[in-house]
Amino acid sequence: MSTQRKTIIAGNWKMNKTMGEGKDLVSAIAAATKGKADLPEVVVCPPFTLIHEVAEAAKGSAVKVGAQNMDYRDEGAYTGEISPVMLTKLGVTHVIIGHSERRQFFGETNGTVNLRLKAALKHNLVPIVCVGETLDEREEGLTDAVIRRQTAASLADIDETDLETIVYAYEPVWAIGTGKTCEAAEADRVCALIRATVNEFYSKGEGPKSSAADQIPVLYGGSVKPSNIAEQLALPNIDGSLVGGASLTAPDFVALIEAGSKRVKLTPSGA
Ligand code: PGA
Repeated sequence: MSTQRKTIIAGNWKMNKTMGEGKDLVSAIAAATKGKADLPEVVVCPPFTLIHEVAEAAKGSAVKVGAQNMDYRDEGAYTGEISPVMLTKLGVTHVIIGHSERRQFFGETNGTVNLRLKAALKHNLVPIVCVGETLDEREEGLTDAVIRRQTAASLADIDETDLETIVYAYEPVWAIGTGKTCEAAEADRVCALIRATVNEFYSKGEGPKSSAADQIPVLYGGSVKPSNIAEQLALPNIDGSLVGGASLTAPDFVALIEAGSKRVKLTPSGA
């Protein structure tokens, strides 16, 4: 495998877990990864209410803590919102941006994804930017157009040097929480398309292509499980996983981390 990109296994707990449950889960993950070599970057994204407790329990371990969303403003009269400043104060290092559930149920648009991406960069949070097509779009042959549009729109007015920090996740909407996984070869093709779109976005005419774009990690998400992750991570363009359901129990999530470790071993400078 020729890639030098890092491997990331990120768990999106969504609206699951209460106090205590979250602490138990992250403690089990921390214990299982303790002292292990070749670990991928491990991130858990609990609900806001658990971030403090989970970050405390993860201290001193390899587990990093992310948020599932955030507002793009620092503070103000925005009832119900959480700002990047609040998150960084809690020790949060990553933030999921533009998850399809945010787009579908909470009015998130390509424009607000771009604002959030800029805010994450401003506050030194690693943004995991989600893109993906719906079943209708796939059936109408629009997958590539949707991926290109969402990826390019996320990058408006963002400096090429920021590509060092950004992570993308390809999450076909029809594969999320449905048990229907995108075939590994197709997921690999779309992950490559995301990177190619970033590359085109920063390439100047016939001039040199953006080498920074080639280093962007692109994760696959959508019904990732211990039984299907190995074939996904064996492909060159899939650099890790964004996992919902299978991130909610320690045995499953630890098995996914172990699959990530195998990829790290194959790409020695990749973690
Ligand atoms: P799933 O969710 O693994 O439950 O399909 C993935 C996601 O929404 O990030």
